[in-house]
Amino acid sequence: MTSTLQLLPLHENQYFQNSVLELLNDEWPQSKTIRMRRLERSCNELPLSYILIDNNNNNNNQLIGYCYIDRLLNEEQSIIVESVCIQRTLRGHGYGRILMKLLEDKLQERESKIQCIYLTTTDKRHFYEKCGYEETTPRVRLNISSKLFNGNEEVFKNLLANQTQSTTDNHVILQKGSTIQRIPTIWMKKQISK
Ligand SMILES: CC(C)(COP(=O)(O)OP(=O)(O)OC[C@H]1O[C@@H](n2cnc3c(N)ncnc32)[C@H](O)[C@@H]1OP(=O)(O)O)[C@@H](O)C(=O)NCCC(=O)NCCS
Repeated sequence: MTSTLQLLPLHENQYFQNSVLELLNDEWPQSKTIRMRRLERSCNELPLSYILIDNNNNNNNQLIGYCYIDRLLNEEQSIIVESVCIQRTLRGHGYGRILMKLLEDKLQERESKIQCIYLTTTDKRHFYEKCGYEETTPRVRLNISSKLFNGNEEVFKNLLANQTQSTTDNHVILQKGSTIQRIPTIWMKKQISK
């Protein structure tokens, strides 16, 4: 199965933007404008959106899944992976594990070698454990476009430095009907090179 699967940058394959938007909004409904703005920020310098494509059917590539990588504060050789998502009808067939493996391969090919991948999850801990991740202490996301970040690194690092404490109390707020739930988020990490 792996041989026909490829993990590709979305910004080099913009034809898939609308399919990615549908995939993500099917799982996590959000304004299409805001969603598209995030997808359009994808670039090689990070943040970067990757798509998992099956090119089995010659010229009729199928979107299988998606993930998004970004920087972390003061962790130059690490990244955070977010929004890992496989098409609903294709889940449970090993694609999620393949996506995570292909991501490791891509990160090791990068010029600035990445040694560690972080992520957060509320309810997919077991999936990530199967992929070799283990629980760790919280980090701070940068969440800033490359255009703003490059050249202003110190300013942003200073601004974000005092967030470290507050991120240890990590929760996702979920609204179901009139009920609001605070779901604890855990941080996980995987060392991909020694
Ligand atoms: C989470 C997700 C990416 C997993 O992808 P997938 O293709 O279904 O997973 P795989 O088939 O590759 O599973 C790999 C292993 O993880 C296990 N696994 C997958 N999802 C699991 C879950 N929800 N709970 C427990 N184990 C799970 C599988 O049983 C499998 O283990 P095995 O090899 O021992 O049989 C997919 O279910 C998804 O897109 N979910 C919705 C979006 C989401 O919640 N993303 C995570 C955000 S933190």
